[in-house]
Amino acid sequence: MSSHILVSFILFFLSLPLIYLFSSKFLIITNFPFISSPDSDDNYLFRRAATTNPHTTATNPKPKIAFLFLTNSNLSFAPLWEKFFSDDNNRHLFNIYIHADPTSAVADPGGVFHHRFIPSKKTYRSSPTLISASRRLLANALLDDILNQYFALVSQHCIPLFSFRFVYKYLFKDNLTSLTNFSLSNSRYQSFIEILSNEPRIYERYLARGRDVMIPEVHFHQFRVGSQFFVLTRRHAKMVVRDTRLWRKFRLPCITAEQCYPEEHYFPTLLSMEDLAGCTGFMLTRVNWTGCWDGHPHRYEPEEVSPQLIRDLRESNQSSQLYLFARKFSPECLQPLMNIADDVIFRDM
Ligand SMILES: *[C@@H]1O[C@H](CO)[C@@H](O)[C@H](O)[C@H]1NC(C)=O
Ligand SMILES: *[C@@H]1O[C@H](CO)[C@@H](O)[C@H](O)[C@H]1NC(C)=O
Ligand SMILES: *[C@@H]1O[C@H](CO)[C@@H](O)[C@H](O)[C@H]1NC(C)=O
Ligand SMILES: *[C@@H]1O[C@H](CO)[C@@H](O)[C@H](O)[C@H]1NC(C)=O
Ligand SMILES: *[C@@H]1O[C@H](CO)[C@@H](O)[C@H](O)[C@H]1NC(C)=O
Repeated sequence: MSSHILVSFILFFLSLPLIYLFSSKFLIITNFPFISSPDSDDNYLFRRAATTNPHTTATNPKPKIAFLFLTNSNLSFAPLWEKFFSDDNNRHLFNIYIHADPTSAVADPGGVFHHRFIPSKKTYRSSPTLISASRRLLANALLDDILNQYFALVSQHCIPLFSFRFVYKYLFKDNLTSLTNFSLSNSRYQSFIEILSNEPRIYERYLARGRDVMIPEVHFHQFRVGSQFFVLTRRHAKMVVRDTRLWRKFRLPCITAEQCYPEEHYFPTLLSMEDLAGCTGFMLTRVNWTGCWDGHPHRYEPEEVSPQLIRDLRESNQSSQLYLFARKFSPECLQPLMNIADDVIFRDM
């Protein structure tokens, strides 16, 4: 009798991988095109990133900013970012990671971007694939370098509004001399992520995956919205890649493409539920929604670029806050931006 049970058990466990294989196959079919491939290889990456604690052999290490570029087209502003990163004194204070949709043949811009592409998958609007891509960027950056202490997500349409030095000091709240004794687990550092609760149509967005689907993990009163572009602390980056509970819900496909913006909800909801006090509640990337109605923010064209625009974009209504980055700029803005880079943007004035 007991040997029968043993045999059944063994058979059951042997069949688990098969069940898993078939269920993930099944998921692809039902979810297509919302999730382009099973997450199993990602899950391994996320688990490693959430649990490993890489060591540093650097003496007197300084914290770094990981810049995470999420793109599905060429990085038109690579020359401007190259200038942003180019000062030799900053060389050890940042890392770059690029997630490029593999179907859009994004070219390696060379320079500081050379070979900084991470293994990537296709992304679609109105699907959880933009969340997956951001988590992949966070996981790769977490694993790559323990000194990555802030993780700034940007897109190909984003530009810097200040010099690297300025951004670095702003994030680490201090001058560089005192950073020589930076504590790698310092909790006074907060994530810069927008967290809003009373936006129009948030209830429709909560229902995007169907009625009662989000319960019990996320009740409506816990559901938040914010920009998909954030700057997270290492602690929060790990929190995101460790999460399976909310991700299980947010990765479900929407029932219609309308009101389907999962990447604007997953991160603010998760972080506000797990560590609201660790978040500033505002973002560092300026975006202009004035007069926009189709889900796309204002896209700046070359004739709009001027020193005054840069100064206006930096200012915010919350007096203590500045914007460090801005979007969206059309690729043709590169030249006018390069023309004012040295005298305005990177001169911080
Ligand atoms: C991206 O850049 C490469 C090399 O500069 C170019 O050949 C390609 O056409 C560009 N792709 C798009 C979509 O513009
Ligand atoms: C920089 O840090 C040092 C050491 O903590 C401090 O003495 C100095 O006043 C700081 N300078 C500025 C401009 O904050
Ligand atoms: C660095 O900070 C730790 C803990 O705050 C302190 O014990 C240590 O003496 C500091 N080291 C230096 C060089 O200031
Ligand atoms: C925001 O976009 C509107 C057009 O949609 C434009 O008139 C306005 O000047 C922009 N604001 C800033 C600060 O650039
Ligand atoms: C600042 O506040 C004013 C009035 O509340 C509003 O019209 C404007 O859009 C705000 N600007 C930004 C950049 O948030």
